[in-house]
Amino acid sequence: MPSIDVDFCKLHFPNPVILASGILGVTGAVLSRLVKESGVGGLTTKSIGPEPRAGYANPSIIEIEPGTCLNAVGLANPGVDEFVKEIPEIHHDGVPLIASIFGDAEDQYPAMARKVERAGVDAVELNISCPHAKVSSIGADPDLTASVVAKVKASVKIPVLVKLNPNVTSMVEIGRAAEKAGADALVAINTIRGMAIDIDVMKPVLANKSGGVSGKAIKPIAVKAVYDLYDSVHIPIIGCGGVSTGHDAIEFVLAGARAVQVGTAFLNGFGIVEEMKQDILEYMKRHAVDKLADIVGKAH
Ligand SMILES: Cc1cc2nc3c(=O)[nH]c(=O)nc-3n(C[C@H](O)[C@H](O)[C@H](O)COP(=O)(O)O)c2cc1C
Repeated sequence: MPSIDVDFCKLHFPNPVILASGILGVTGAVLSRLVKESGVGGLTTKSIGPEPRAGYANPSIIEIEPGTCLNAVGLANPGVDEFVKEIPEIHHDGVPLIASIFGDAEDQYPAMARKVERAGVDAVELNISCPHAKVSSIGADPDLTASVVAKVKASVKIPVLVKLNPNVTSMVEIGRAAEKAGADALVAINTIRGMAIDIDVMKPVLANKSGGVSGKAIKPIAVKAVYDLYDSVHIPIIGCGGVSTGHDAIEFVLAGARAVQVGTAFLNGFGIVEEMKQDILEYMKRHAVDKLADIVGKAH
């Protein structure tokens, strides 16, 4: 029987399907339920900021094509001090918990990273890439990216993951800057800037006018990002963007990802994780693959 567990950043994931940031709220109850009911291999929390934030008005998320969404939630979150109280309520036995954090300025990241580390998370993910918030400017600049990463690395012992912004000229340049500054892994990609217009109302649909595209439509863009990064960095890459089946996950692994994060596909319910795991196992049997790690980057 092939094994689908994966190890990276000194963490053990029972399978490569990790919840992406922002999709299922920030409460311990929801995240615990997801672990229990879905069999997910890892959890990433909604991005948490230094202060409570209401986010943008509705409509803030719409399905523009089946499986493809446009959102501008505006990083709604309860603030790090409230959020750390939820962390002990997240029951995630054997399933690594990654806290996603964002700041409006680079100096806010280290203190938040220390707070979530103290509260017991297994890793921290730096969101420097939300396409419709100030933080995207950090992830669009290699020097700023390096500076944030170096400051967080100097502040915590847990692994530091960096979520990359696809709305830049060169993701590879930003990925390399993050690696050089000490990042333990990269997550590629966040959503891609987009807009939908209601032709009867003659106005953009989202209250924020523009937002980030996620789901099926962005998968080829994300696969190429992972493929290019794999050629350019040595640290692990987690693929993210449009994964909804086990075959999608395998595509990302062959491009160079150690695991995948799944967001939009959860709109179809928790059941997708078991289906994905079955698809991955079947693929591995068909291709006589014992360990997923053996085919990471195999498409190169
Ligand atoms: C409603 C929604 C909220 C999101 N919130 C966050 C967030 O708080 N932090 C973050 O890093 N990414 C956030 N994302 C981006 C996802 O984590 C992921 O990078 C992106 O949606 C691509 O993956 P997918 O196609 O599987 O959804 C959000 C995406 C959606 C659809």
